[in-house]
Amino acid sequence: MSNITLRTLTERKESGGKFASLTAYDATFANQVSQAGIELILVGDSLGMVLQGHSSTVPVTLEEMAYHTRSVARGNTGSMIMADLPFMTYANADQAMASSAELMRAGAHIVKLEGAGWLCDSVSQLAERGVPVCAHLGLTPQAVNKLGGYRVQGRDRESALAMIEDARRLEEAGASMLLLECVPSLLAQEITLNASIPVIGIGAGPHTDAQVLVLHDMLGLNPGRTPKFVKNFMEDASTIQEALTHFAGAVRDGSFPSAEHSFD
Ligand code: KIV
Repeated sequence: MSNITLRTLTERKESGGKFASLTAYDATFANQVSQAGIELILVGDSLGMVLQGHSSTVPVTLEEMAYHTRSVARGNTGSMIMADLPFMTYANADQAMASSAELMRAGAHIVKLEGAGWLCDSVSQLAERGVPVCAHLGLTPQAVNKLGGYRVQGRDRESALAMIEDARRLEEAGASMLLLECVPSLLAQEITLNASIPVIGIGAGPHTDAQVLVLHDMLGLNPGRTPKFVKNFMEDASTIQEALTHFAGAVRDGSFPSAEHSFD
């Protein structure tokens, strides 16, 4: 696979195509994921739950994210790498720039931060200084204590309109991608149609430009409660590589996610 860049993914959206994304936290899995042709690897702060066994992503530190980003970069063979800025490492624009610099030096090609309109200043300062940013809207797991649990967001008219406006403002501020987590399908569709930047979904229905899942979830390695939006791709595969390839194919041909894995 030739190197995937922001331009590749933006052109994919413009031509009406879709792309696939999975998390990876180490060199071995990053290699498997990129060899399967998954365009975007997310070094997610979900590693706090998946690898470290915490009940949320809140305890994850910037040092840990940089360590895992370096590991992923060593195993990657051409996918684009997105790294999460962890909880409270981008509380203001100066901190966002210093934290992003750490992750970009570790091998990230784009950083992701969670939140809405309050991020616009940080997003525009990062973008002006050459750091591509993905803004994560909807269910933002770092705010689980404020949200009162892992719940679908944007179900009522007021919060749906606010999310549409946040997405518009973040793109205007310079965001290069949006990620929508646990959002009703029709709302995600409207945000995707309005945006000229790629919109990635997780639990956001079939209409976004891309889909991301936590690798361990789609390999059926999550021993806990499986969220509705997760499909276990190992069920019909005999190797991990086959499961990854099926996932990529299902995202690109639009067969994943189906209604069964989406929210109304
Ligand atoms: O940390 C992560 O894995 C994420 C996904 C849930 C999108 O942000």
